[in-house]
Parts: sequence; structure tokens; C-alpha cells
Amino acid sequence: MTQLIDGFGIASGICESIATSVAHLKKNNGLVPSLRVIIVGENPASHVYVRSKQKKAELLGINARTIALPKDTSEAELIRLVESLNGDISVNAILVQLPLPSHINSSRIFESIDSKKDVDCFHPENVGRLTLSKDALLKPCTPAGSLYLIKSVLGNDLSGMDAVVIGRSNIVGKPMAMLLLHENCTVTLTHSKTRDIQEKTMQADIVVSAVGIPHFVKRDFIKPGATVIDVGINKVDGRLVGDVDFENVFQKTKFITPVPRGVGPMTIAFLMLNTVIATCIQNKLDHQDVIRVVV
Ligand code: GUN
Repeated sequence: MTQLIDGFGIASGICESIATSVAHLKKNNGLVPSLRVIIVGENPASHVYVRSKQKKAELLGINARTIALPKDTSEAELIRLVESLNGDISVNAILVQLPLPSHINSSRIFESIDSKKDVDCFHPENVGRLTLSKDALLKPCTPAGSLYLIKSVLGNDLSGMDAVVIGRSNIVGKPMAMLLLHENCTVTLTHSKTRDIQEKTMQADIVVSAVGIPHFVKRDFIKPGATVIDVGINKVDGRLVGDVDFENVFQKTKFITPVPRGVGPMTIAFLMLNTVIATCIQNKLDHQDVIRVVV
């Protein structure tokens, strides 16, 4: 029997806990976590994602503002804005939505964000901390949300499991592999130059796909009883589909995420969590109460 992993419901539960933490911070410490989301240009999908982040933050009591800049904004202008938010003590969290227009070097932008306000966990210092330790405070939202879903069905002990990650992006694939490695999984990180991805996925207890190709993961890629996490969000004929050929893969799995309502809501929940953790770090407060919602 296959069980669908209810990312939407699990994310809702996490967000309820975060709303409680936000209220607690306000009542006991006079602090309202504040998030600034910067979007450059008119990418319609990005605007949809940013609106969801803004709306969820407002719902949880976080002070959120979206700063929309024209597509011809220069790299220097964007860095100046980031630096002014770095210096603003009323701002706890900064997110620059990707993709950026091609004339802007995203690495230089992420390096310009104060690492304590880097709720995406894209700053090299935070990437380094994540690589060095299981206990990094800020973890990248999509991989951390995906790991939470995996543990929600397989339990906290993933030691010795074979995990295959498809896609080596800095946002998902690489940090996902690192998080699974910290859980003592044997991790294979596959990518566009991997010779035979199917040969690897067929052995895996856990498959995480973040490749951005609809129906890339087919039925015969999956070992019976595996857990499949679909990070892909692709549009086909106006419909959202993941990387996984869901209808044909479903029955072969023990646990599988749907698209939509799988990983997507978890990314937003972990962004909210990181915003509250960043607020605690900056105010030298014990964040344990806040991160207790994370397994
Ligand atoms: N674009 C797609 N996913 C993300 C994300 O997690 N963070 C940012 N900043 N941009 C994105």
C-alpha cells in the first residue's frame, strides 16, 4: 500500500508552531521577525512564489515586505539595496528570489547578504557551516523541508539507507545530498553527465528528484517500496507536474510526495522558520523553543 506524503498538511502544522513562536517573541521580547523579499524583473512564476511567501509570513505575524525592482536593475544597485537592508537592525531576514536577470551574478548577490540574515542559506559561510555540521542553525529551505518529509514517514534514523539525489543545483541537489549524508545515508548525487541514472535509482531506498524535467523519473527507475520525494515544479499544458511520472510510479513506492501540495509548502514553512531563527540569532536569544518543531 502506497502512502501519499501530505506536505501541505505537515507544512500547515509547522506554520502553526511558528505562529505560536512569533507571538511568544512579540509578547516576551517585544520582537516582530521581519523579512524582506527582493524580486528583480517580471518572471511570472517567481512573482507567484514571492506572493505566497509574503502572504504566509503575514499570516504568521511576521513583518514581511516585498521589494520589486525593474529587470534592468544593475548588479551594483541590487548590492546597494542588500547592504542597506544588512545595516537596518529592524530587518532580520533577506531573500533575493532566483532566477535573477542574466546580467546579474547571483553568487556576488548572495555573498553580499549578511550571513545572519541569509534565510535561504546561500551565503558561502552558511553553505560551509551546513557542510561541516549537522547542527547548522540555518538550513536551506527546500532540502530541509524535504528531509523533514522523509523523516515524517521513515522516522528519525535513516542510517545506512541508500539515497539517490537527481540534480546537483546549489539550491537543492548539493545541500540535499549533504543533509542526507549527515543522516548517515549512503548518498549518490546524480546529474546530467551521470552515465546511467536509472541503474543508481533502482538501488535506492530514497530518491529525491530536483531536475526540472517532467516525468523524468519513470516506473522502472524505482525499487519497490522506495520513498520518492519530487521537488520538481514544471508546467505542462497549464498544469503543474513534478519530475516524477506520478501515475505510473505511485504504486511501486511505499511513500511519495504529490505535486502540488508536496515539497512546495514545506519550502515556505522552512523559510518562515529560518526567519524566526535568524531573529533569535541576531537578538542572542535561545532559539531552541523555535527549532523544536524540526525533527
Ligand atoms: N527560486 C526558486 N526556489 C528558490 C529559493 O528557494 N530561494 C530563492 N531565493 N529563489 C528561489
